[in-house]
Amino acid sequence: MKAITYHQFGSVDVLKYEEAALPALPDDGVLVSQRASSINVVDYRARTGLLAPFVNKKFPKIPGADVAGVVIAVGSKVKGFSVGDAVLGATDPFKGGALAETVAVLAKNLVHLPSEVAFTQAAALPIAGVAALESVRDLGAVKAGQSVLIYGASGAVGLYAVQLAKHFGAHVTAVSGAAGIEVLKNLGADLVIDYRKGPIKFNKQFDVIIDYSSQFPFNAARAILAATGRYVDASPNIPKFILSMIGNLFRRQKNLMLATATKAADLLTILDLVQKNKLAITIAKNFPLDQAKQAFTEMERGGTVGKIVVQVG
Ligand SMILES: NC(=O)c1ccc[n+]([C@@H]2O[C@H](COP(=O)([O-])OP(=O)(O)OC[C@H]3O[C@@H](n4cnc5c(N)ncnc54)[C@H](OP(=O)(O)O)[C@@H]3O)[C@@H](O)[C@H]2O)c1
Repeated sequence: MKAITYHQFGSVDVLKYEEAALPALPDDGVLVSQRASSINVVDYRARTGLLAPFVNKKFPKIPGADVAGVVIAVGSKVKGFSVGDAVLGATDPFKGGALAETVAVLAKNLVHLPSEVAFTQAAALPIAGVAALESVRDLGAVKAGQSVLIYGASGAVGLYAVQLAKHFGAHVTAVSGAAGIEVLKNLGADLVIDYRKGPIKFNKQFDVIIDYSSQFPFNAARAILAATGRYVDASPNIPKFILSMIGNLFRRQKNLMLATATKAADLLTILDLVQKNKLAITIAKNFPLDQAKQAFTEMERGGTVGKIVVQVG
């Protein structure tokens, strides 16, 4: 099969489009003929070696986690999926495997894809959509009437998070670069602030603050976080996890770390909202598989509003 591969950690220059070995069929998973995938921040962090402590050292590796395609083989222990089913799901982002013509996926991370949702749209959902749901609904515990601040709102996850916070009835302030302002207003953000215009002065407190930009840390956010407010950090690391857990025992403002696990139940929730037109998918650009290197380059440059999708086949 054809795939995007890399034989060592490094910049986009290590990426190749070449022949790769077919993945093995897991007992508790399926093989999917990929139709589309998309690029997530975790994919390029894994490729650069930043996540090396969590990633095995076996090369070549295939990047990518988002899966949207058709089942072509079913593992012996799998129930509920058959050859020919259209599916949506994700591989373990630390292991990758999705930027390829055939992908192995565990059945617990897979759902059926309704025919109304195109593969190229669906591929923009798994990692980013579930990350947004887990940050807004689970960690943020956003409720109707609350005031929510979303930093880095025009990125892949932020655009979903703004819509989800609105869906749960919150008043949403979004901080983004200029390119995202109109899109964010159209998606329902109540106030949109361009971070490139200089230091931002907030004249209110927020019940929930979610940072997708890595530029607004908990210690800076505390001054505008309600006394019992919740702060969500989308870029955790081990020291942050440990310090936040200890700190949270002694203060009412909570510092919460996002560690997304793509569960089928969350994918179904996201798909349901998409089908009810309550969650719009914003595709920034669409690349064919053999141009995935350009897709990474574009994403890593920044300023992208929404998802970069890679079409397979
Ligand atoms: N922990 C988990 O489980 C998990 C899962 C998924 C994602 N994530 C993390 O969530 C974060 C967001 O992911 P993403 O895919 O949405 O990334 P993205 O598409 O790169 O979005 C990042 C956003 O931050 C904005 N930004 C950059 N500098 C800023 C600043 N100084 N102030 C305010 N906004 C700024 C960017 O705007 P411009 O482009 O205009 O600069 C962009 O809108 C990443 O760190 C990713 O690793 C974590």
